[in-house]
Amino acid sequence: MSATATPAELQRAAALLRAGELVAFPTETVYGLGADAANPAAVAKIFAAKGRPADHPLIVHLPSAAHLARWAREIPAAAERLAAVFWPGPLTLILKRQPAVPDAVTGGQDTVGLRVPNHPLALGLLQAFDGGIAAPSANRFGRISPTTAAHVREELGERVPLVLDGGPCAVGIESTILDLSRGVPVLLRPGAIGAADVARVLGRPPEIRAAQDEAPRVSGSLAAHYAPRTPLQRVSEAQLVQCVKQAIDAGERVAVLALSAAPMNPPHVFWMTASHDPVRYAQSLYARLRELDGGGFARIFVQAPPEDEAWRAVNDRLGRAAAGSGENDET
Ligand code: TXA
Ligand code: MG
Repeated sequence: MSATATPAELQRAAALLRAGELVAFPTETVYGLGADAANPAAVAKIFAAKGRPADHPLIVHLPSAAHLARWAREIPAAAERLAAVFWPGPLTLILKRQPAVPDAVTGGQDTVGLRVPNHPLALGLLQAFDGGIAAPSANRFGRISPTTAAHVREELGERVPLVLDGGPCAVGIESTILDLSRGVPVLLRPGAIGAADVARVLGRPPEIRAAQDEAPRVSGSLAAHYAPRTPLQRVSEAQLVQCVKQAIDAGERVAVLALSAAPMNPPHVFWMTASHDPVRYAQSLYARLRELDGGGFARIFVQAPPEDEAWRAVNDRLGRAAAGSGENDET
């Protein structure tokens, strides 16, 4: 399938969803593993395919903000303003749920995560389906999120009957998650839409919740997440060359994801240079980590990007990739 789907293909995908089957589809952030959000048996298949604990809530993807009231029982003015500015787009809003939203979707919580994705295939599928599609990232639990259809097939293989191919994702990291169910806006997961973007619309910055405070509620906030199997370390530019030399002296073949070109060219180092621009860096981050993880290296060193706001989401994902790396927990 090419990067666009025909109306017949979208109708077939929507029919699979109606029949309670899984469909993987592209969004602007990462690929999602979708099921009919109103069908608990279909949603259960997502958890089985991912190997994900069943108490982790899923994001429900909607065709437009007009569908909000079917899923959220309270829609604060802040939600309407943010939806008007950022949807379709990489922002998930946590709102108080309608009682009919299945517990399988919300992990039994009183809230539900909602977003309208900005990708023509995702929107085409949502319109053809005309309902909410529950979809986590289409990877095995704890692993690197997929940003191409090929990654989804590598991760899930026969576990998913249909993968819609929309080409590489434009954003490359998961949506920003903003909790609007608590009276004050709380940023639960940083993403392409930053705290300053939210502040511009709401007239106040969101609170920023340290991820570990929320660990059971937001699986994307578990310290060990988005992780390669190869041990991954974040090191400063100053430490980088020394770390690489030590590893080589120890007889290891290592990979480097750096922000600048290789200062040396020893035979046992695979040196990858990423963009200085945080938006472009994020776009290719997961594909690069996946490539490095598959390279048979003893270790991956990632040069730590600057600690400023523009890099917050990237630094968040790198921290989790480091924390969860080196484990072979595939079951
Ligand atoms: O960009 C994205 O958000 C992608 C694409 C496919 O839309 N989806 C994604 O889904 O990243 P997932 O399941 O990998 O991460 C969703 C996060 C999880 O960390 C989950 O715990 C959190 O959203 N979440 C969902 N509902 C929630 C709720 N009611 N309260 C708090 N967190 C919630
Ligand atoms: Mg995920």
